[in-house]
Amino acid sequence: MKRIVILISGRGSNMQSIVEACAAEGWAADVVAVLSNKPDAAGLAWAAERGIATGVVDHRAHAERADFDAALAAAVDAHAPDLVLLAGFMRVLTDGFVQRYAGRLINIHPSLLPAFPGLHTHRRALEAGCHLAGASVHFVTPTLDHGPLIAQAAVPVMPEDTPERLAARVLVAEHRLYPMAVRWAVDDALTLTDDGHVTQRENAPQWLWG
Ligand code: GAR
Repeated sequence: MKRIVILISGRGSNMQSIVEACAAEGWAADVVAVLSNKPDAAGLAWAAERGIATGVVDHRAHAERADFDAALAAAVDAHAPDLVLLAGFMRVLTDGFVQRYAGRLINIHPSLLPAFPGLHTHRRALEAGCHLAGASVHFVTPTLDHGPLIAQAAVPVMPEDTPERLAARVLVAEHRLYPMAVRWAVDDALTLTDDGHVTQRENAPQWLWG
């Protein structure tokens, strides 16, 4: 069984979608811990109610980013993960942290990367007049919201959209996209090519549109 640790900062709805997919579909993986940089992250209570180990590494208790990342790495390593998933984890990580988990550190971002890394993605997509928005799952590199793309999902932008309405539509896609991409990683169905692209094994399960 692959061991998954999920890092969150808030609601944790993407974390929930992975926990539920793991359990419902008999994956060869367990979510062994959910960790947060915020003690009041709502997702922590949800995970704890389901018997998943939870923990907090409060970024406010660490003056230096490197100290926080060292404490976070120690908390992550205590669960000996095969995969570390960022699911709405809103802290920029140091190069050292990213290198430590190279090839097993994955993030979801609510835009069609490389468009709109960072914050306020939906407002920026609307301001840019995009007709499509979406979400991207990618291996994490030291650059924020950047790295080899594993999977993407697109949704339409509607004329009456507000950032909130668009965010809600993208979130529905996120909840399908992230478990699918994680399943590929769990099944060792992903290959990182020499030019930094990700390919999926031909028969990797697809359930995004099904
Ligand atoms: C999600 O939309 C996720 O893509 C985004 O934060 C939200 C967290 O929601 N992540 C980022 O913006 C990372 N740059 P959740 O806590 O309900 O999963």
